[in-house]
Amino acid sequence: MPFLTSLRSLSLRFSLPPKKSLHPLALSPAASAMELQPPCFLVICGKSSKEKELARCLKDNHALKLPGVPELSILLHSESEEPVEEGCFRISSFFDSLATARLGRLLIWSPRLPSTHDIVSQNFCELPIGAACVADVQFKGRGRLNNVWQSPRGCLTFSFTIQMDDGRVVPLVQYVVSLAVTEAIKDVCHKNGIPYLDVRIKWPNDLYLNGLKVGGILCTSTYTSKKFNVSAGIGLNIDNEKPTTCLNEVLQKLTSVAYRLQKEDVLAAFFNKFEKFFDLLINEGFQPLEKLYYATWLHSGQRVIVQEKDGEQFVEKPVTIQGLTSSGYLLAVGEDSQLCELHPDGNSFDYFKGLVRRKLT
Ligand code: BTN
Repeated sequence: MPFLTSLRSLSLRFSLPPKKSLHPLALSPAASAMELQPPCFLVICGKSSKEKELARCLKDNHALKLPGVPELSILLHSESEEPVEEGCFRISSFFDSLATARLGRLLIWSPRLPSTHDIVSQNFCELPIGAACVADVQFKGRGRLNNVWQSPRGCLTFSFTIQMDDGRVVPLVQYVVSLAVTEAIKDVCHKNGIPYLDVRIKWPNDLYLNGLKVGGILCTSTYTSKKFNVSAGIGLNIDNEKPTTCLNEVLQKLTSVAYRLQKEDVLAAFFNKFEKFFDLLINEGFQPLEKLYYATWLHSGQRVIVQEKDGEQFVEKPVTIQGLTSSGYLLAVGEDSQLCELHPDGNSFDYFKGLVRRKLT
């Protein structure tokens, strides 16, 4: 089958160094950059025959677009052979561990993409709800506040779609995503009999291990036809020691066992957890998840300083974090026992700098 060779040869090209014979001055900068960049392609796959059929329709209808990548090649997993190179996502292994009813069952994989978030958010209406995109490498990974998310090989980078009716719970979904990531890591550690990695949530959407950031969550949404279309994106340093540290580096220091966490296992465990948590959020709100969330975040009882305007002057007031308010901001109590909601001032990358308080009655 022609596809058997096409996927393998395309992915093999990524490990080749740039052509030595290409003199940098021989081409214009734009042309030489294009020459050195391998093309982007997507492999679409489904867990069951229903999603496999959907994958075929998406391919046949040329339904997926990626602005800035005019020639986006689409392959079907069923027509191609899985690449065997180290670090390539193993789709079959992921599907073997996936036990969801809706989420992650239609998967788009690419060895190299600008951003998985762009794929799902810009093709939201073409994709079934719960569709996911995972990339081995992103070259325009997006972080919050327009930051870049560095996405080298080894980092699990994926995005997926969900839909919500009730706008009041939309801001809380990012916390449920964070919690599902930390619980998925615990689950994989437990199943493989390895020490438990204590990944913690730094509000609102960072994941920390041993004081270093190892992951981040980006949720964006649009409102159409009375529905919130939410694209959730997660970056998790599983096997990439740069730019901070990664789960496997910490694991190796904890144990003499050679086992390393696999991206496919963590991703499947994530969807298995998140689907249950999401159903709870939709049907019962955040309350059933609160206890676990507070046991996992870093902030219970944390004292922070808020800036307050007193006439012409700014005064600093210490407050103690108690939890989350119903709208997803920090709930805190002041030294005067006054309950307040803490809002980021919107200027600082560190949410805990420049918090502003709104008194609650
Ligand atoms: C942050 O900490 O600022 C959030 C980072 C979110 C990164 C993920 S990686 C997968 C998805 N695709 C992107 O371009 N961004 C998100």
